[in-house]
Amino acid sequence: MDTKIALGCDHGGFDLMCEVKHHLDKRGVPYVDFGTYSKESCNYPVFGKAAAEAVASGECDRGIVICGTGIGISIVANKIKGIRAALCCDCYTAEMCRKHNDANILAMGGRVTDPELAILITDIFLDTEAEGGRHAERRAMIAEIENDERKK
Ligand code: RB5
Repeated sequence: MDTKIALGCDHGGFDLMCEVKHHLDKRGVPYVDFGTYSKESCNYPVFGKAAAEAVASGECDRGIVICGTGIGISIVANKIKGIRAALCCDCYTAEMCRKHNDANILAMGGRVTDPELAILITDIFLDTEAEGGRHAERRAMIAEIENDERKK
């Protein structure tokens, strides 16, 4: 798989991000790591924004972002135009966020999802394609809302 992944986390997601990176290394999936690089307390908006901007600009194809709950960093990622970030805590949601929402960023919570499950979720996110038809039409509606909001 040639898809390049943008990674971003805070201190609450650091340990889980290390597990995810180890797994990506084993699979041979390329990534760009936008930090954070330690467990020292930091601000998740900084790292969520950096990873999301890399996806939005096309520098990376998809992203994985992790904070303590996954909530804050997913909210940040979704502020960037063109980003559809999905917070996933189970395999079904991971599958559907790709098939129905064409999520281009996976968010997870380092304090809520154990590493074994997080790796399963990561694989599903990487390996599932988006469906077209009515789902593509709904995604186009999301983009329209995003564009309209930006004109205000
Ligand atoms: C940091 O303590 C924590 O608030 C952060 O990792 C995240 O859970 C925010 O949504």
